[in-house]
Amino acid sequence: MTEKTREFMHSDIVRKDMAQLRLEPNLKGYEGLRETFKWADADKLVEWFPGGKINSAYNVIDRHALGERKDKIALIYDDGEGDAQKYTFKQLYEETNRFANVLGRLGVKRQDRVFVFLQRTLEQYVSFLGAIKAGAIASPMFPAFGPDAIKDRLLDSGAVAIVTDSELVKRVYTVKDQLPDLKHIIVAGDANADAGEIDYRAEMASASDRFEAVPMDPEEFQFMLYTSGTTGKPKGVVHAHKGIVQQTLSTRWVLDVHEEDIFWCTADLGWVTGVVYGCLGPWSCGATQVGLGGRFDPERWYRSIQDHRISIWYTAPTAVRMLMAKGDDLPAKHDLTCLRALYSVGEPLNPEGVRWALEVFDNKPFHDTWWQTETGSILITNFPEMPIKPGSMGKALPGIYAAVVDEDGNELPQGEEGSLVIRPGWPSMMRQIWKNEPKFNEYLRDGWYYTGDTAKIDEDGYFWYVGRADDVIKTSGERVGPFEVESALIEHEAIVEAGVIGKPDQLRGSIIKAFIVLTPGYKESDELKKDIQKFVKSRLAGHAYPREIDFVETLPKTRSGKIMRRLLRAKELGLPTGDTSTLEG
Ligand code: WT7
Repeated sequence: MTEKTREFMHSDIVRKDMAQLRLEPNLKGYEGLRETFKWADADKLVEWFPGGKINSAYNVIDRHALGERKDKIALIYDDGEGDAQKYTFKQLYEETNRFANVLGRLGVKRQDRVFVFLQRTLEQYVSFLGAIKAGAIASPMFPAFGPDAIKDRLLDSGAVAIVTDSELVKRVYTVKDQLPDLKHIIVAGDANADAGEIDYRAEMASASDRFEAVPMDPEEFQFMLYTSGTTGKPKGVVHAHKGIVQQTLSTRWVLDVHEEDIFWCTADLGWVTGVVYGCLGPWSCGATQVGLGGRFDPERWYRSIQDHRISIWYTAPTAVRMLMAKGDDLPAKHDLTCLRALYSVGEPLNPEGVRWALEVFDNKPFHDTWWQTETGSILITNFPEMPIKPGSMGKALPGIYAAVVDEDGNELPQGEEGSLVIRPGWPSMMRQIWKNEPKFNEYLRDGWYYTGDTAKIDEDGYFWYVGRADDVIKTSGERVGPFEVESALIEHEAIVEAGVIGKPDQLRGSIIKAFIVLTPGYKESDELKKDIQKFVKSRLAGHAYPREIDFVETLPKTRSGKIMRRLLRAKELGLPTGDTSTLEG
């Protein structure tokens, strides 16, 4: 074993006593399954229409509503203020049918893009799934997004309809005249008929609760989500109906959903985790899910686990760190014995987080899971039946071949750091970057899908995250592209140029830091900093603003004029600056 390998093997292994587990894991015999499993085996987890057609929303809701689970609670929706409503599969079936009919009446066609721009509410789930049922491509949008972010997404996708509420619609209006394709603004709340808004509630009330889910080709699209890369505006990651096969399988195998479980995914539907594991996967497995509205609040979170008897909890490292920071008295005041399995995603989960959970949640560790918006479901994880190596992402799902490669795509020996790649072609893999084939092709090289992450593999086959190979920033688990922040910054009159990097942060993983060149005549001040922060928040998104700002005279650039963020980062962190041969003059 090399010195390097030993270095990342420091953490104690969390072993499991199978006899102590409350329920037998759905996935047993991982090593054997890796040899024998074929993707075709998973096709039987979902229902198909004649002629090999499928509809993901039919699998998520209808098949349960039309079968034995019709009166089972599908959703416990807690508004975060203590009011919880329960909805059965049958109720969600009727609601989503109504919404599909509303879209039909408006003339929304197969594969038209329908955006969902709502807070966490019943309507958010209903319009998302109803749109998919109707054959449209549903696209949820995070409610913290501002006008620039909204415009980028609606314009690029050519969205024809948006479902929003009477507050969020105001942001849509600021960019509406730049969106020629947007025909329908559906408002859940007080709709303004004079402005041409469509009243969600009135339309739903008069729509039929019967609808036959549209049989789709498995390669037709169910949803799309915009995500950030290093360069350019956010890109539309498009997912096919076929993905539901793997979304269902991974929910069974990894999140280990059983009939009696109460499942809670804390992510908003605006992010892929919320879509796949806060909606599609668990419902496709027929599970009861909790949806919690309102903001992050440790007290409310523990209370929700206790009151709704949550047994499986899927959250993010930032939330874990925030809960840890809040102390152990708070969880001790709640009855959390209902929990049986904990999972995390979004950024590296610190070994401390795994160990803390063991103490606070009665010997239950967090299981780290790794995936991306583009992968459409979990690909690497610490499985329920396996020992957990705290700090490691775990192993690849049966059916997935993951590797660590050098610059030429050659697999590296264990312990060596390189690019994390996957053999393409898994069912939930994105099918395209919306109308941008070159961007899609950037992911594929030498027969591999490049994740943009760097990693290493240890002698037991566990994957360890090292970092990002690109400039993408992960702040509180949310993915932010430096280019978008830079673009928003230079719209401010006091700014000529801006370079943006991620700076490591104890709580948030990274924070966004901006280096700014001021327009002549402007003077640096704390007030100006605050004004700039406010400006970015209001234009781009509440979470995607620079928490730190440095005013500089110039920015390091390549001869072709590209800002060298790598140098900004090296300087900021006191690291060697590396190769600067392409640096300008
Ligand atoms: C990027 C994808 C899909 C879930 C939400 C994030 C980072 C994700 C882990 C993990 C270390 C992780 C990677 C990845 N990431 N999970 N378990 N350990 N890093 O989706 O916004 O598309 O971001 O998040 O850098 O590439 P996303």
